[in-house]
Amino acid sequence: MRFRGSARRNLEWAREHIERYGVTPTVKKVGCVMYDFFYEWFHGTETSTMVWSDDLVTNSPNKAHANCYQPSKAWPFSRLLSELNLPRDTAFVDVGAGKGRMLLVAAEYGFNRVVGVELCANLSAQARHNVEIFRKTRAKLPEISVVNSDAIEYSLPEGDIAFYLNNSFKIPVLMQFLEKIQQALDSSSRRIWMIYSPAIHDSAIQDSRVFHQRQRYEFGGVEFIVYSAGPRADSTAA
Ligand SMILES: C[S@@+](CC[C@H](N)C(=O)[O-])C[C@H]1O[C@@H](n2cnc3c(N)ncnc32)[C@H](O)[C@@H]1O
Repeated sequence: MRFRGSARRNLEWAREHIERYGVTPTVKKVGCVMYDFFYEWFHGTETSTMVWSDDLVTNSPNKAHANCYQPSKAWPFSRLLSELNLPRDTAFVDVGAGKGRMLLVAAEYGFNRVVGVELCANLSAQARHNVEIFRKTRAKLPEISVVNSDAIEYSLPEGDIAFYLNNSFKIPVLMQFLEKIQQALDSSSRRIWMIYSPAIHDSAIQDSRVFHQRQRYEFGGVEFIVYSAGPRADSTAA
């Protein structure tokens, strides 16, 4: 009976979504949700359940500016990475990695080095656990590390970096993080990309002038903005 109840709720949700946004966006959204469901089931990971920002376990004063844990959708991000075709020797850093779903997608893409930086101790532990489980179904994976730290305190890797930022924090921390990127660009010649989604503070990022290129993408109904800076950095492979 419970199944019937939830099936009815899902159908009601789909009807309302179609009325509001149309058939195509609804089909895309349902497709992405089903993809995540099977991705999770296939690998045996747990990345789906949301965690409210009040429940994040940390002593950082930046908890006040942290957004809740809500995972990105795997398929749109995977499509974006294929489209961008960024060099594999770039370090991928998910800023606010949560339970690590995007670390798995980035590792499958083939980045040589994948890092998740996460404010909450419990989420960091869950991300490490998910990486361990994921390794069991994947023979060849790059180095994947999870650092339990405030993104502002984290020491950036050397060389080229592709950041992923899924609305992890509010403007005060975002501005500090952009300053950190600017310092990294000033201190050595390197390419930096920042994949940003959803594009809530796009205008503030543009106003900061840290990046000199910006491109918009959309896959599976999810919008991504890709900013880039540094020698020959653009949003496609070098
Ligand atoms: C919307 S979730 C994104 C999770 C993951 N990146 C994804 O796309 O699936 C945002 C995450 O950022 C983390 N976060 C918030 N403020 C942070 C900070 N100052 N440093 C590091 N992580 C932070 C939150 O704990 C949360 O897990």
